[in-house]
Amino acid sequence: MTVGDKPLDFKMNQLLHGAFKRELVRITAGVVALADDPELDATGLVQRWNFFSEQLEHHHMGEDKYLWPLAQERSSRPEEQVVLTAMEAEHAALSGQLHKLDVQFADLGAGRSVDLAQMRSNLVELTTILVGHCQHEERDATKVLQRHIRAADLDEFHKYTRSGPDAALVFPWICDGATQDDQTAAWDTLPWFVRLVAKPVMTRKYQARKQTFDAIP
Ligand SMILES: [Fe+2]
Ligand SMILES: [Fe+2]
Repeated sequence: MTVGDKPLDFKMNQLLHGAFKRELVRITAGVVALADDPELDATGLVQRWNFFSEQLEHHHMGEDKYLWPLAQERSSRPEEQVVLTAMEAEHAALSGQLHKLDVQFADLGAGRSVDLAQMRSNLVELTTILVGHCQHEERDATKVLQRHIRAADLDEFHKYTRSGPDAALVFPWICDGATQDDQTAAWDTLPWFVRLVAKPVMTRKYQARKQTFDAIP
């Protein structure tokens, strides 16, 4: 770090974590509604899961590739290395649970029989691991990153983040259900001239997709 370097702001990471947690509540409610009425059309729910699963996997792959290894390389403190290793292990645990559910949602989408009670309990377990991981990352790992990583290190990470699946839907999705302050904070990460053009276009696209997602209320 050189004099005058400011610690990085990881607010967007926290906002994204909030969106993941809200989405899991919606998906779990969808599975419960489907268990109550198996005649409901599950197409939107499966699409909602696929969107969530891809976003979560993309987010974790970015952290695993661009953030933890760089901090691991620069840190000489054992207590920081423990936190960084834990981040990778927690991502791996999440990935295993995510894939179990990917298979179940694929079965649901293909009209094959699925055990909805088992899906619900898998979702509850995923939520437990995710909430714990987000807390751990925000409380401990963010400080380690702020100590070792500077804005100039993040060009590739930002490029990777922008290239994700359904990238145009991510900002309005992060804002869906967030507080007004958090919505403002998310959009404010974009330069004003990009925001001016992109916000209405992205919001329209997300609202259209959300109509499908919300097919099971
Ligand atoms: Fe994260
Ligand atoms: Fe993470």
